[in-house]
Amino acid sequence: MASILAAEAQLAPVEWRESASTADSRLHQLAPYIGKLKPIIARQLLREFTAHNEIVLDCFSGSGTVPLEAVILGRRVLAFDTNPYAVTLTKAKLEPPPTLDLANEQLVLRLAASEKRPRYAEESIPDWVRKFFHPETLQQTLRFADECLEHDDPFLLACLLSILHHQRPGFLSYPSSHLVPYLRDRKFPRVEYPEMYAERALQPRLEAKLRRAYKDSFLIEPDRVMKVDQVGVADLKLECEVDAIVTSPPYMNALDYVRDNRLRMWFLDRSTADYSPEPTEKQADSDAITAAFARNALKYLRSGGHCVLVIGEKVSRKRVTTHPAERMFAKLVTEFPALQLKHVIEDEIPDVRRSRRSGAATKRELILVLQKA
Ligand SMILES: C[S@@+](CC[C@H](N)C(=O)[O-])C[C@H]1O[C@@H](n2cnc3c(N)ncnc32)[C@H](O)[C@@H]1O
Repeated sequence: MASILAAEAQLAPVEWRESASTADSRLHQLAPYIGKLKPIIARQLLREFTAHNEIVLDCFSGSGTVPLEAVILGRRVLAFDTNPYAVTLTKAKLEPPPTLDLANEQLVLRLAASEKRPRYAEESIPDWVRKFFHPETLQQTLRFADECLEHDDPFLLACLLSILHHQRPGFLSYPSSHLVPYLRDRKFPRVEYPEMYAERALQPRLEAKLRRAYKDSFLIEPDRVMKVDQVGVADLKLECEVDAIVTSPPYMNALDYVRDNRLRMWFLDRSTADYSPEPTEKQADSDAITAAFARNALKYLRSGGHCVLVIGEKVSRKRVTTHPAERMFAKLVTEFPALQLKHVIEDEIPDVRRSRRSGAATKRELILVLQKA
């Protein structure tokens, strides 16, 4: 780590290292998402750098950890992300049906309507998608997804996507991994495990998912949510000032939010047949995102407001030289000289949040607390 940040860095509180806290809302576990922030980190940063009723912006909202903690703490939120899966999850966590009974009623309606929808021609579904499912399960799942998409039902859509792939019986796919989709047909060959390749009925699995989601009660006040939308930071436009920005920008070079969510992405938006190819110009992307953030997000921050950035370390097979926070910080102050560095917090990321089979992943994150003069 280079000089300015290294000199300022303080170690994160030990409780950030613990795997999960009983104080975490169960909604955080609604569905998996790579590079997710720990709720306790979001909670403590929001408590320290924002006040009740203040407006908090998260323009890289991912699975919605910061927005959910913000509304629980009585802040108002604006949340944006480019990824449709991220936006679906954020909306689902912020606007769930208030009770299990209501969620079940909605489920029954959507299932009945989805059964009336026309069946898909098998050849219209890409091969790589068909490899993951029994044909009948795939028909049910697709038509249910369409019903939720047509009626703008992010909560049931998120529930569906959360059980889309895994090897456990409560999931819809053939045996595969959970976070990033890989078939596990070599570990579980069809001849030895025929039950894992049988049709998997949708309704009982969604009902079980809802029971798990509503194990604890939760109360989200709807007027706390100002806007959640699929907008990239380059196109961000707000109609008001914000009191704080609390966000974690994309971990360039370590995680790929599109490729790693490819199966869920395809169910949400089928205009791209295959989401597997990895984008190339990551460093350039990263700089462009930082510049757009300075231009389009920081300008809405009120004077004296805090900007809290959780920045993942760039990890590659080669030696890591500087932390990306260094580059990002330098770029931000060039574009926005009125920004003052107040604190730097250094946090180690436990192995459990590593995502790739190859083992390449984010290792250490720095939290920069900046203030607009
Ligand atoms: C580190 S993740 C955020 C994780 C989030 N804090 C959570 O707890 O789930 C970064 C997010 O930035 C999003 N992203 C990438 N490029 C973006 C852009 N240009 N504009 C807005 N969001 C972008 C990714 O889709 C990803 O969800």
